Amino acid sequence: MNREHLEAFREQFGSEPDRFIRAPGRVNLIGEHVDYAGLPVFPMALQYAVHVAVRPRDDGLVCVASSYPGYPPREFQLGPEIEPFSDGDWGNYVKAAAVAAVSRYGADRGADLWIRSEVPVAAGLSSSSALVVAVLKSLLDVSEIDADPIELAAVAADAEQYVGTRGGGMDQAISVCASQGCAARIEFEPVRVTPVPVPDDWRFVVADTGVQAHKSGNAKETYNRRRVAVEESVERVGEELGLAAGDRSYARLLSEHDAGELMAVAQQVLDDRLLRRFRHVVTEADRTRRAEAAMRESDAVAFGTLMNASHESLRDDFEVSGPELDRLVALARGAGALGARLTGAGMGGCIVALCTPDRVDSVLEALRDGYFVDSPGGEPPPDLDQRLFVAIPSAGASVSRL
Ligand code: GLA
Repeated sequence: MNREHLEAFREQFGSEPDRFIRAPGRVNLIGEHVDYAGLPVFPMALQYAVHVAVRPRDDGLVCVASSYPGYPPREFQLGPEIEPFSDGDWGNYVKAAAVAAVSRYGADRGADLWIRSEVPVAAGLSSSSALVVAVLKSLLDVSEIDADPIELAAVAADAEQYVGTRGGGMDQAISVCASQGCAARIEFEPVRVTPVPVPDDWRFVVADTGVQAHKSGNAKETYNRRRVAVEESVERVGEELGLAAGDRSYARLLSEHDAGELMAVAQQVLDDRLLRRFRHVVTEADRTRRAEAAMRESDAVAFGTLMNASHESLRDDFEVSGPELDRLVALARGAGALGARLTGAGMGGCIVALCTPDRVDSVLEALRDGYFVDSPGGEPPPDLDQRLFVAIPSAGASVSRL
């Protein structure tokens, strides 16, 4: 709990909250743009979270306000079907959670919610999924509904489709199910979460380009187009390999063929654009599997090399990087990071870099001086702590009663 948060709640609603809910953002270490292909990903939850101060209401209204300047107060009546606010409105993430709370769990109590987010918005650290998870947990808690975490993660992922982005399930699963000190392998269909302890001497540095990629706004079209390309590619390759319509999944293809065989088939049936999208998915699946093994063996050099290859693939084959992301990646590598890559959906947002403890300061300094200050020795932006930091693998969402 935070004092300012409590006071903001009092000022907005004229009463006291009786509980706080926390849902963390995440940094994806590897396994990018493959969750919606049904393939494993490997993120960890951050020390930065969305915090909600909550008080139940008995009139069925959900009233929500936030300290974030772009998030004006919103209110609406709880129900199984709720008309969205206009496209791009932040309140749609709250409505997404509300629809799911009612239709999937029978929640029947409204609430006053004051939201404070430490997760940079539209930066690829999953601020929006953390918001959906936090509100969903808040609305379930006021209705005294105890949800199974794995089910909650899947429900939150479905719920978010309400905003129009056809995201996968990674962000919600890690926000709900993360374990302190651990990354996690997350598998899909059905969701499974396997914690993997992060070695004590590994440091993941996160740096935010400041180029915002809004999942319900400017990045939505590109994101959805990538997903369509990924789905179309597996259909065509699966068909060529003689699989029946319902069996054409990446998991199935990868369980029966190696990447080389799949690429040889793909070359016959996909145009250049789809071929590159397909190659990203197939090679990223392999990198993700090897990266998990490298972490289990504390092989930071191998992990870093896989991160670098992931970035190259996202830049060249998947085409979701950009000059700012590439610049941060180059700065981190130049200062001695073992690997660096864009993280999250791309098109802006953050990079993540792996360093040994003796290199952290030089990597942070290179990023600060090379990107965040206008001139050497100049002043960094006031929010530098949230835009350039060492990630601490943190626990998943939690509730605290006052
Ligand atoms: C966004 C989506 C995730 C995932 C990533 C890319 O964060 O919400 O489901 O697809 O992009 O890996």
